[in-house]
Amino acid sequence: MISNKIKNGIKGNPTIPGDKSISHRSIIIPSISNGISIIKNYLKSDDVINTLKAFILMGVKIKENGDEIIIYGKGLNSLKKPNKEIYLGNSGTSARLLTGLLASQNFETTLTGDSSLSSRPMDRISKPLEKMNAEILTNKGKMPINIKGKNLKNAKIEILIPSAQIKSGLLLAALNTRGISQIFEDNITRDHTEIMLDYFGADILIKKENGKKIIQINGKKELKSKNIEVPSDLSSSAFFIVAALINKNSHVILKNININPTRNGILIALEKMGAKLTYLNKRFFNNEEVCDIEVKSSSLKGCELGEDISKLMIDEYPILSVAASFAKSPSIFRGLNELRVKESDRLKLINLNLLRCGVDNKILGDDLYINPSEKYEVKNNMIKTDFDHRIAMAFAVMGTRLGPLDISDSNSIDTSFPTFFDEFNKIGGLVS
Ligand code: S3P
Repeated sequence: MISNKIKNGIKGNPTIPGDKSISHRSIIIPSISNGISIIKNYLKSDDVINTLKAFILMGVKIKENGDEIIIYGKGLNSLKKPNKEIYLGNSGTSARLLTGLLASQNFETTLTGDSSLSSRPMDRISKPLEKMNAEILTNKGKMPINIKGKNLKNAKIEILIPSAQIKSGLLLAALNTRGISQIFEDNITRDHTEIMLDYFGADILIKKENGKKIIQINGKKELKSKNIEVPSDLSSSAFFIVAALINKNSHVILKNININPTRNGILIALEKMGAKLTYLNKRFFNNEEVCDIEVKSSSLKGCELGEDISKLMIDEYPILSVAASFAKSPSIFRGLNELRVKESDRLKLINLNLLRCGVDNKILGDDLYINPSEKYEVKNNMIKTDFDHRIAMAFAVMGTRLGPLDISDSNSIDTSFPTFFDEFNKIGGLVS
């Protein structure tokens, strides 16, 4: 994909697709509930389709009806042993959540993925599940994951790595395990699973003690089906927000965006940098907060962000780094070690591609330093993405100021935002 420089800003109301995290959960949770759930605005991207196929393979009846899907759930123990391995493509969320869910089902399964997913750490979910007696075999902590599902033992588990995927995998295991399980979380991570389980009638209690969040699940209580309207994805909207901020004469309104406070760090960070953002029409979709976000071109300043906020915006550092490259002063983003184990080593690729674009930046320990200039001389316009969708989209936005940039393997964008190309060009972007 080539992303070209634009002259007259971006303008309009691009359609942002459904939230990826909530879409995965909108297939998983209804599939183990009792009754029919209608899911509107789910994200029809490669990652989510892999979750969908997994449940079809495990015998769940799922019908497509235009933009909606209808899921016929038959309860916590209704899944059937699949007749082959379950392939999850690029999707870390599917892998970690399904490992937890399947550990407590009475059949054996094997999960596989593409080369990127196969190089990501899976012992972060298999090890804590062993505390519930789960029988999981990995390939030295990586995929394929073989799960010998069985009745698990309830447990108290402290999550050591800040990760919504680990937490969610454990919650799904606890759901089908007799007795009370408790998950202790030191750091804030996105809470879509807790919100949806509560909405579906799970016996779930959330408390705070000594700064820790404790999520308590009393297992074996059947869930009741519910309809879901998936809010639009803040992480996907961030590419349009930053494109509007860094290009003069821009004005966009993004509708129905999820602003769940456990993952709104990008908005906090951009406001700190002087972004002109207005939140309109705040309301809730199935207990998830949404609003419309109005964005105008802004003169940005750099900022220093600590490790705490990184948990609230881990997926947004590629695009935040592009914003920081057009600020009037330097930025420091601290505590980014988790960025190294995402769909690619994002910290390394941000550093490398910014250098290719002529942006002075460096990594010190787990911190990223960006020292912006008023003018850039692109040194090498080939952007290396290692098949990472967020790196590809972030540098498509970079191209609006410094293009043409040649973005490799940009079909990875289909994992989270298959309509990106059209929506971006509709509002004045120039990608081809
Ligand atoms: C996700 C959690 C995050 C995020 C990922 C989606 C989820 O990962 O990076 O894109 O849906 O639970 P962590 O497990 O590191 O929190």
